[in-house]
Amino acid sequence: MSQAVKAAPPTTLVIFGAMGDLTRRLLMPALINMTRLGLVGDDFQVLGVGIEEGNDQTLRDALGSFDATGGEGDGEKGEAWTRLRERVGYLQGDFTQDVVYGQLKERLHGNVAFYLAVPARFFGDIVDKLGEHGLMTEARHAFRRIAIEKPFGHDLASARALNTRILGRVAETQVYRIDHFLGKETVQNIMTARFANMMIERVWNSDCIDHVQITAAEAVDVGTRGKFYDATGALRDMVPNHLFQLLAMVAMEPPASFDADAIRNEKGKVLKAVRVYSPGQARRNCVRGTYTAGKVQDRDIPDYTATADVASDSRTETYVALKLMVDTWRWAGVPFYLRTGKAMSRRDTEIVITFKPVPFASFHRTAAKMLPPNRLIIQIQPDEGLSMDINIKRPGLEVATAPIALDFRYADAFDIGHLTGYESLIYDLFAGDQTLFQRADAIEAGWAAVQPFLNLWADGGTPEPYAAGTLGPAAADALLAHDGHVWHELAPAGQTVP
Ligand code: BG6
Repeated sequence: MSQAVKAAPPTTLVIFGAMGDLTRRLLMPALINMTRLGLVGDDFQVLGVGIEEGNDQTLRDALGSFDATGGEGDGEKGEAWTRLRERVGYLQGDFTQDVVYGQLKERLHGNVAFYLAVPARFFGDIVDKLGEHGLMTEARHAFRRIAIEKPFGHDLASARALNTRILGRVAETQVYRIDHFLGKETVQNIMTARFANMMIERVWNSDCIDHVQITAAEAVDVGTRGKFYDATGALRDMVPNHLFQLLAMVAMEPPASFDADAIRNEKGKVLKAVRVYSPGQARRNCVRGTYTAGKVQDRDIPDYTATADVASDSRTETYVALKLMVDTWRWAGVPFYLRTGKAMSRRDTEIVITFKPVPFASFHRTAAKMLPPNRLIIQIQPDEGLSMDINIKRPGLEVATAPIALDFRYADAFDIGHLTGYESLIYDLFAGDQTLFQRADAIEAGWAAVQPFLNLWADGGTPEPYAAGTLGPAAADALLAHDGHVWHELAPAGQTVP
């Protein structure tokens, strides 16, 4: 989404699960921002579908809550909501039954995007019904597309089955699998930072890079999401999707162009090159943890197993750390360490590239004691930015060195704080640009790489405990210590509120 973008083509957005949390919390705020910024025109329509009784007014009232509009009637967002609400309609119906699709067929003409903001178990059924009722048939100059939220599958077999089922009904070009991390500016910037900068891309390989760390630490606990989370766990929830998107951006080869196909080909290739471990390798290269009671920024957090809708004998992990290898020429021998967890000391999503040390020889007879390796830190959130640790000469008569950071913060230069991240995804859905969406092969490659860990854990064992408000289990430190490394310290507290 560039600065001078024009409004997306006239589209009706049909939201399945219109009365749900995702619609209110994320989709509507994004649509309001899009209206405000002129990214959709006055010909844009929203049609919500839900099982709940009601009419257009009911949905408009439900959406007009504070978090959707920033306060109805209040400022620019309020004005945008006032304009948009007249174009929000509601169709009450059960999306597992045929009736509602017949009604949709009568109502819908022209460009339509169907957004599946529903629990994952309904994805296949809805796509089948849309297909059976001819709702996905594209006429000349009128598109039909589907946006599918995560989780896409529960493991490799179910992801494959879902892809087969969906692609039996519609073409890949009609499917927009959402990973909301790809809507983040800082994630999109990884490619620009690499491919628009000679001094970065030229050293971006195993000759110069020692190892890569990808962290998505969350301060939030599982809270009210126990039912979903206990059946899912940290690995499924974060790794084959969000963390692998970051890994793909870091590890992909330069695409021949910035076209969706070119980019998705390269991302697909590198995800397929993530080593699929044998059971023994999987055991040696993973750590899982579950938080116990503790304090996160003055909030008392109970044991994970005391969370509502979580089994008291649950073995679900709320933390995972992995060491992965990417079997390409560029990355031969470079470990990628990934970690993510809930109820950690602070919120911090970052990628840390640690370069190899310089030969110390020339500094031997100087006052320099050690030269820490260069590091590039891509701060995804919060406090978005990019910084580089380098060594300089400490001022003075002798040759002594000092490590310093070259630091760029987005907030100092740009205004990126007012969007949800869904704006660019929804805009691209309407504009027909699949760059920021996951293709079937990449999703399956992601699941293939995590399947050995799922198999291992299904066989037994229990996660390591870590107290809420800490950095995760001690075994995760040992995973890196084994290779002579330590985890990068999380961003300083202060910008930590989740
Ligand atoms: C979601 C996961 O996909 O991503 C959540 O289901 C997680 O468990 C969230 O908290 C993290 O996203 P963000 O944008 O807050 O980093």
